Amino acid sequence: MNAPQNLSPALDAPPEQELGLGSSQLDRARRLCVAPMMDWTTRHCRYFHRLLAPNAMLYTEMVTAAAVIHGKRDRLLGFDAFEHPVALQLGGSDPDALAQAAAIGQAMGYDEINLNCGCPSDRVQKGAFGACLMREPELVADCIQAMRESVSVPVTVKHRIGVDDQTDYRFLFRFVEALYSRGCTVFIVHARAALLKGLSPKENREIPPLHYDRLKLLKRDFPNACFILNGGLTDSSALQWLNTLPADGLMLGRAAYHNPWLLRDLDEQLFADDARRLALREEVIAPLQRYFERGLEGGVPPTAMTRHWHGLFHGQPGAVAWRRAMAEGHGPATVLAKNSGTLKSSF
Ligand SMILES: Cc1cc2nc3c(=O)[nH]c(=O)nc-3n(C[C@H](O)[C@H](O)[C@H](O)COP(=O)(O)O)c2cc1C
Repeated sequence: MNAPQNLSPALDAPPEQELGLGSSQLDRARRLCVAPMMDWTTRHCRYFHRLLAPNAMLYTEMVTAAAVIHGKRDRLLGFDAFEHPVALQLGGSDPDALAQAAAIGQAMGYDEINLNCGCPSDRVQKGAFGACLMREPELVADCIQAMRESVSVPVTVKHRIGVDDQTDYRFLFRFVEALYSRGCTVFIVHARAALLKGLSPKENREIPPLHYDRLKLLKRDFPNACFILNGGLTDSSALQWLNTLPADGLMLGRAAYHNPWLLRDLDEQLFADDARRLALREEVIAPLQRYFERGLEGGVPPTAMTRHWHGLFHGQPGAVAWRRAMAEGHGPATVLAKNSGTLKSSF
């Protein structure tokens, strides 16, 4: 597809001071991102993912700006320092509220604030945010500006490539251009459109076709912005897109959750040797057990932690026993001891 003919040319460089947004460390971390996933990427999940992928960028579940402002902050936003670098994803469409929530997020220690412009759920649409915001680029640009003025960490956006029948590149270009012109330079692109009528959120992650080629066009038109590819990446063949599109980073959602060892392998392929990186699945058990015990002491229900760790032995002997034990809230070390025959054979 060619560049839109009658649109103003994209700027060569971001207009405001924060080119390269944040430290080079964050740019580096974004080469491998774990997607924001409601009810899934809780702090207990992120801790586990961090053990497996010491260099990746981790995202929280979406938290609405109103919840950040009025809710119980420790419960909603608390996280372990070990999770860094970690980004807070916000939902909302009111610039002042988002600015306030972003400032709270920064004060809580988050490394990046991300705005959700990709969620298609009815609940989110009723609140007039998520994917439907792609139809209002100027409003989103106001939100971005207000957030950027209230924090010094990078403000980024996660979005789709279109909404309903507005799926041509021109629509996407206008959205990105509006945000870029207010200083947003990091875009996480879930490379399928959102169909806001008639599809459930789950169907909206599966039915609309993927169009990775849109990132190629975005990179051509906004060469100094950073585009992270998301949607349907399931194994290490995803790495090809970094060079061929090119993309500045990869974001994995469901595959990372169900087969978390994939994160470890991608981390190894994307980043230099790292003494923190585990060589064997078995090595994650001891630190996970320590985390589990700390959590129990702090009154965390066991399954609130273990339910996110079920995928560790995905595709390996003993995977079913491990998954069952995690669903029941058993401590990782106990499970390993009881199943050492089957689980160890897979190391
Ligand atoms: C259970 C679940 C919850 C999700 N919640 C969010 C969310 O809170 N914010 C968001 O931007 N995307 C959310 N998503 C979408 C993912 O971030 C991601 O864009 C999508 O799953 C496509 O990536 P994948 O094919 O790698 O899974 C969610 C996805 C799943 C499966």
